[in-house]
Amino acid sequence: MPAASTANSRSRPISGSGSPSWIRRVQGGVSLLAAAPDPALIPSIFQPESVPAETIHQLSLFVLAVTAGIFLVVFGLIAYATWRFRRRPGDDGREPPQIYGSNPVEMAWTVVPLLIVVVLSLATARVIQELQNAPMPPSAVEVEVIGHQWWWEIRYPKLGVVTANELHVPVSDPKERRPTHLDLRSADVIHSFWVPRLAGKTDLVPGRQNRLWIEPRRTGLFLGQCAEYCGTQHAKMLLRVVVHTPEDFARWVASQKSAPGPVPDPVAPGRRVFEQTACINCHALDGTIADGRFGPDLTHLMSRDTLGAGAVANSRETLKEWIRRPDRFKPGVLMPAMNLSDAELNQLVDYLVTLR
Ligand code: CUA
Repeated sequence: MPAASTANSRSRPISGSGSPSWIRRVQGGVSLLAAAPDPALIPSIFQPESVPAETIHQLSLFVLAVTAGIFLVVFGLIAYATWRFRRRPGDDGREPPQIYGSNPVEMAWTVVPLLIVVVLSLATARVIQELQNAPMPPSAVEVEVIGHQWWWEIRYPKLGVVTANELHVPVSDPKERRPTHLDLRSADVIHSFWVPRLAGKTDLVPGRQNRLWIEPRRTGLFLGQCAEYCGTQHAKMLLRVVVHTPEDFARWVASQKSAPGPVPDPVAPGRRVFEQTACINCHALDGTIADGRFGPDLTHLMSRDTLGAGAVANSRETLKEWIRRPDRFKPGVLMPAMNLSDAELNQLVDYLVTLR
């Protein structure tokens, strides 16, 4: 499993010493991340922080214990037989006695593995049943996650919030449960939603709706990624889940629901550039004519930490470079370079960075 799945910490160096200042700054950030991977960010299935992941973790420990026992017995017998019946000087070279059709032996090595497999299947079926049929309390947050090549559309239909790649949820308290229920769909090919510390993998299959739920026990950032090969940039289809206190979650929802204010005069030309280019065919942006669904909603673009589903940290400099040459950070990305003039690009970025 890849370590901390921020692409930021895994990106190749993108230039030499003569690079523009923004690239050096990004690289500074990259080496900082690479030098000190935060253990809390390592997406390990052995450090669950949410109910489904905890249940799966317990099952996996049980399965590992049983299979480790089998390994020790089998390996021990092989080691013993190898040593005990090794070739010795003076062997007469004849075959040892051959035994066929011993009922007790045949029964033993058929029934014992059968019982082990039955026990493992029953334990697994019980956990699957328990997780799939868990009733959701009315306080559950409803989220729709739609997989795209190569990003995540995230919608909160009851809250009227639309975002991308960064799922925000409240922390749950055993006394006052606040799980998050996810409806998983795909806009193109099969993807798989996987945030190892929060829940098991679930595929997003075209023409089908799958379900998953998480119930995080502590606040913080949890990393995940698409876990089903879905094309060129499958590896940069990263997920961030931010678990908030209920108060912070309410604040986040309020900030995402707020309609964009009037466009400040200095950035009005940038908004015109946006509305006059093909941006509006693929992106939605409240308060403009743009209502595309092919790419992420940009209404609160700068509230997100990364661009390109975790391909690079989100800042003015990276945003500008992303629009100039999206495939610099994400080769094969479906967003085309718009070939704007430098003046238009600057105006556009001046406008986009006001979208908080
Ligand atoms: Cu989406 Cu792999």
